[in-house]
Amino acid sequence: MYTIEIADKLFWVGAVDWSIRDFHGYSTEKGTTYNSYLLRDEKNVLFDTVKKPFTQDLLHNIRRVMDPEQIDYIVVNHVEMDHSGALPDIIHTCKPEKIFCSLNGKKAMIAHFHNEDWPFEVVKTGDSLSVGKRTIQFLETRMLHWPDSMFSYIPEDKILISSDAFGQHWATSERFADEVDEPELFRHAAKYYANILLLFSTHVQKLLATVGEMGLEFDMICPDHGLIWRGDSQKIIAAYDSWSRQEPKQKALIIYESMWESTEKMAKAVAFGLLKQDVKVKMLDLKLNHRSDIMTEVLDARALLFGSATLNNGMLPNVADFMMYLRGLAPANKIGAAFGSYGWSGEAVKLMNERMQEMKIDVVDEGLRVRYVPTHEDLGKCVELGAKMGKAMKQK
Ligand code: FEO
Repeated sequence: MYTIEIADKLFWVGAVDWSIRDFHGYSTEKGTTYNSYLLRDEKNVLFDTVKKPFTQDLLHNIRRVMDPEQIDYIVVNHVEMDHSGALPDIIHTCKPEKIFCSLNGKKAMIAHFHNEDWPFEVVKTGDSLSVGKRTIQFLETRMLHWPDSMFSYIPEDKILISSDAFGQHWATSERFADEVDEPELFRHAAKYYANILLLFSTHVQKLLATVGEMGLEFDMICPDHGLIWRGDSQKIIAAYDSWSRQEPKQKALIIYESMWESTEKMAKAVAFGLLKQDVKVKMLDLKLNHRSDIMTEVLDARALLFGSATLNNGMLPNVADFMMYLRGLAPANKIGAAFGSYGWSGEAVKLMNERMQEMKIDVVDEGLRVRYVPTHEDLGKCVELGAKMGKAMKQK
């Protein structure tokens, strides 16, 4: 993918990864991009790099703008390897005068590359750097989503280079958000938030408040993944505000896995009980739905109902996998309940209740177990469980 001048003297020189399908547990079914930006001024500045296998793509793109040795400064907004894997080769080729990063960024680079003699220049929030006609202001964004993360802001052009924030995992030939289908764009942005940033939602709220207090305006937001937001950035900022508040809708998810269709029969009956309470319901069979897609649904759901048969005195593996993944992302403001069939021991419901309590999900019912195959009466109890959850969703 060729370089493009995205604003006056600011070039996208990154790489498009059409083939990646797994990003440490996140299904990137449409690939991703590793965005790197090159600013031409009296000092030439490269913002972040790319994943190591794409080093040559980055160098080719830089060469379309200038000789890499003309790069004076590299700004490392984030050290995770999808943005710094190419860094050793780029530093070797470009021989930059300085590498700007946060203190945590310097520590992380040394821990990754074991190279203390790089020309680090540590910056913190409020520091700025004149590069000619433009200034770069730095804003540390610790834990969004790594300790080293920071933003770079060019006030003369109102351009924010936002590291992982506001990104999407979506490989496209277009570079701007206004060139692609908006509902699909926001679906990718929501999935990205739910799977990468949800855990750090309180930090997002603080950051948005800080940005407001600083009076920063954005004509362009340039993330390290996906499409660039230009013009009115309010939509994506409002979405981040909404997602980070974790204010749920009247939406229930039935997240389940069945062995011999008994738990599935229970799931359908629970759904019927919820529907009778006029709440929105989604059935998510863990055999068919990837954990990271279910997380996107969790983002604005109020009720999570987990269903699992008992296998080997535990829950089914896909249910255990999802609950572990969910726990790491620490969703807030959820209520929950569990159900499932069993043959002789039947521990799954108890274990799912324990996992929910660990996650501070408000468990509103002790759960429902059915031996082997549910009877008509058993299914009636499942409908009652769904109805109870539907009522609880409206109360809390
Ligand atoms: Fe896209 Fe946290 O790296």
